[in-house]
Amino acid sequence: MAQSIYSKVSAARNVSVIQPRAGAGLKAEHVSIILEEQPEIAFFEVHAENYMGAGGVPHRQLEAIRQDYPISLHGVGLSIGAERPLDKEHLQRFKILNERYEPGLFSEHLAWSTHDTTYFNDLLPVPYDEPTLERVCSHIDQVQEVMGRRMLLENPSTYVAFEQSTLSELEFLSAVVDRTGCGLLLDVNNVYVSCVNHQQSAEDYLDAFPMHAVGELHLGGHACDEDDEGRPLLIDAHDREVDEAVWRLYEKVIASHGELPTLIEWDNDVPDWPILLAEAEAANRILARVHSLKEAVGSVRAEGGQGGEARLAG
Ligand SMILES: [Fe+2]
Repeated sequence: MAQSIYSKVSAARNVSVIQPRAGAGLKAEHVSIILEEQPEIAFFEVHAENYMGAGGVPHRQLEAIRQDYPISLHGVGLSIGAERPLDKEHLQRFKILNERYEPGLFSEHLAWSTHDTTYFNDLLPVPYDEPTLERVCSHIDQVQEVMGRRMLLENPSTYVAFEQSTLSELEFLSAVVDRTGCGLLLDVNNVYVSCVNHQQSAEDYLDAFPMHAVGELHLGGHACDEDDEGRPLLIDAHDREVDEAVWRLYEKVIASHGELPTLIEWDNDVPDWPILLAEAEAANRILARVHSLKEAVGSVRAEGGQGGEARLAG
């Protein structure tokens, strides 16, 4: 009998392919315990910009991790949405990382973080209009050509809407997929944060999301604040556990569209490893529950073809 993907992750080790289970962001302070305990985790996601040097401790750690786990390469500094051309040297460093570590997935944000010669620490949003769409698509074409592979573009968390936008975020993302052939990284926490901030329905947004293009999901924690008028303002802080509302949306997404590699993002106030692992295990429990439910429905349907409908009715 074929081994269930839920019985053992180790079959995925030493290969690049990432199974549709939970992974975690790799933090330097967790590397020793991970190498020692070899936890059952599907993949580690690394921020490319932490590995732009040629050697040193970061690469020694990542090489050791990579021997046991697939990785996902996540960029935060390509500035896909910037008005200026992409930094070719920075892109070359991505290419070198891609060749060195053979990541199973490669992703970047729909955002910009550079202007002229200034680099910002934040991922800043873009207006959804035709000139921006053309620019973003041209940058993604360039990235995919240099990297020689498909990239996933992550939906942003937003706090304000641009008056100049002529497209919805969903129309913009769908057009990017159609024009470039790239995939999408659906950050469910970002959806929740943006929808609360813009007083929209996260369920409606997700129902209309171009799921056929999604290759990875992100989950993370957000902070709750208020705007000047006392309305809830959520901040995509990545500094705590995933919120209950986001878990519920996540389960709905995978129940409707199938299991996908799922990253737990926790980048600030990084907890001890067991706490991060527990979040990944919580995602795995949901994935397993949805998987079992689908198998049960599938077997009932199969039996239905052989008289099982009568049993169901009875
Ligand atoms: Fe994310």
